[in-house]
Amino acid sequence: MARANGDSSHAKISDPKNDSFVHQLRATHQAILVGAGTVNADNPSLDVRYANGSNPIKIVLSAMLSVDVTKKLFKEGKTLVYNQLKSEVTEYVEFIKLENLTNLTMLQDLAARDIHSVLIEGGPSVLGSFIKDKLWDEALILKSSKEWSEGIKAPWLGIPRYEEIVSNSDTLNYFKPA
Ligand SMILES: NC(=O)c1ccc[n+]([C@@H]2O[C@H](COP(=O)([O-])OP(=O)(O)OC[C@H]3O[C@@H](n4cnc5c(N)ncnc54)[C@H](OP(=O)(O)O)[C@@H]3O)[C@@H](O)[C@H]2O)c1
Repeated sequence: MARANGDSSHAKISDPKNDSFVHQLRATHQAILVGAGTVNADNPSLDVRYANGSNPIKIVLSAMLSVDVTKKLFKEGKTLVYNQLKSEVTEYVEFIKLENLTNLTMLQDLAARDIHSVLIEGGPSVLGSFIKDKLWDEALILKSSKEWSEGIKAPWLGIPRYEEIVSNSDTLNYFKPA
């Protein structure tokens, strides 16, 4: 999923021709979620630039607020930062403190805000926690035909895919919970 030691230089492994597909997927969800580690390492925009559609609400999980709020994510649109330390609303960011923050309590809080579809784009620690909690409806792995000999492995779903589609030089693998 990533270069070793958070090295995000030359970290893109998927085919750039699939960017529009990924952005179309983003546009079909109300919200997109990542962990603080992904924000800090990749400085992502999490918007829909390569497809038609609306930008989803951005959500960052950062229990201990290790997230770097100077990243570009926090300079436009709306971002919710779920954490255990503070509640605060600024121009582009709402910090939401949940003392009993878990993936489930966060999803319940989102539902109370009428947000019912969330695309989780990782990284591995966030993805692993949702897999462990069995809080997912569908998973999509975009698998590159290129290989890295070392780095951070993607979490293992432990079930077979139900569909595989070749897309440009990548393969799309779809999974549903057993
Ligand atoms: N290939 C891909 O598609 C892809 C996608 C995304 C990211 N990545 C890569 O993944 C790497 C980052 O992954 P990572 O595993 O180190 O970090 P991560 O999952 O992005 O974020 C970890 C941080 O998120 C918070 N967190 C995680 N799970 C939480 C939970 N259940 N509840 C509350 N907070 C939670 C914690 O923040 P606090 O410390 O503030 O508590 C934790 O330190 C980067 O190298 C990035 O390039 C790859």
